[in-house]
Amino acid sequence: MTQTVALETPPLALGGGPKAVSEPKPYWPYLTDDEIEAVRANLVKGRTDWSYMCAAGKGGPGQALEERVARDLGVPFVAATAGGGPALHIACMATLEMGDEAIVTPYSWGQTVSCILQAGGVPVFADIDPRTLTLDPKSVEAKVTPRTKAIVVVHIGGMPADLDGLLAVARKHGLALIEDCAQAQGSRYKGREVGTFGDYGCFSLGSGKNIAAGEAGLLVARTRDHYERALLCGMHPMRNNVDVQDPARRAWIDSLIYTYRVNALSAGLAVKQMDRLDELNAHRRRAYAQMAERLAGVPGIRALSVPEDRDPAWHMGMWTFVPEEVEGVTRAQFLKALQAEGVPIGGSYVGTPIHLRPTFAQKKTHFGRGYPWAAHPQGDAIVYRAGDCPVAERRCAVEDLTMLGGGCWKDVTPLLDQIAAAFRKVAARLDEVRGIQA
Ligand SMILES: Cc1ncc(COP(=O)(O)O)c(C=O)c1O
Repeated sequence: MTQTVALETPPLALGGGPKAVSEPKPYWPYLTDDEIEAVRANLVKGRTDWSYMCAAGKGGPGQALEERVARDLGVPFVAATAGGGPALHIACMATLEMGDEAIVTPYSWGQTVSCILQAGGVPVFADIDPRTLTLDPKSVEAKVTPRTKAIVVVHIGGMPADLDGLLAVARKHGLALIEDCAQAQGSRYKGREVGTFGDYGCFSLGSGKNIAAGEAGLLVARTRDHYERALLCGMHPMRNNVDVQDPARRAWIDSLIYTYRVNALSAGLAVKQMDRLDELNAHRRRAYAQMAERLAGVPGIRALSVPEDRDPAWHMGMWTFVPEEVEGVTRAQFLKALQAEGVPIGGSYVGTPIHLRPTFAQKKTHFGRGYPWAAHPQGDAIVYRAGDCPVAERRCAVEDLTMLGGGCWKDVTPLLDQIAAAFRKVAARLDEVRGIQA
């Protein structure tokens, strides 16, 4: 196949031409002077009030963060944690017993699944919806067994999952729903913030996230019962002495705990940054929409088509490589050409789908072979194979492209224009792209 290259199209950067993108990439995290000052002020307050240095009990920035999030999300129970991973671990400990099954996506950051293993649960993988890349309720329902106790869903990249569909499966079979919102602070489903639908909502406030507070997280609990169970697993006894009210539970304070409380300095930073969350997310939403507009009709790449009832806050821009539109060009060649032009683009964020990684192929964690499958009556018969989740597997192997996200996307029109020009340049020189060693 040959292609006529318009005379005015400059040569590819890989072929010695000028790079299409010269604008700097947005930096993240970007802390304002006010946010830095808030941390300093909290350190000074720490000279007279211990809770400003240590979030073991109540008071100080830890409590202020919880109250702020409870108000913003309209939820009654919030515990600030050391990170999104700790919040997920607490939620799973409070939900699962050894050998219980939890249905989960293979298309995520590993922690979405590790939290199940860490709580002694057996992960069972369901496939994703090709439109939203989040758990497909039909696939989830097909995986339910009498041993299933929970569904762990991730709103990957900020894209809200089909929460009505998942809640319907959860209610029908009496399962808990745990939402991994680490990448979805400010994303909405049917107008309501994610993390407020399930039994637990787990957020990350790590520095790469939409609220960048160093290292921290949030656990939202649906009822007082969920909240108290979670507190016993992951919060300091000083707090539990105040917050755990159930007399039968109080005997278990300080029995088996992880020190998963937030640190006070990160909490103080997070409270202040909450003031900017809507604005920062608006930049992310605008940047994705403007990029999608500019790339409409450019061969080889497509934006996700967002269902009407979802409003992703785009922690990470997810795009689709369409090989049929750039016949004979592989994703690796496409990426190499674009990256040489200066486009901040990568392949699959997930890489190897989680069910195909060694932990599952060998059924071996660093807790030793057999854990936690040994606690499941049919544990030996559980196998994880290629073909279990075909949509997720194809996304990772062929279709995933990652671009935008991880930055303050304010006033980036010139950068978006240059990125679009880079795509058009590559599309005009596909014959050369086919020859790239990648
Ligand atoms: C989907 C998802 N879940 C969980 C986590 C863990 O959060 P943290 O790093 O705050 O522990 C992350 C972090 O990147 C994540 O992206």
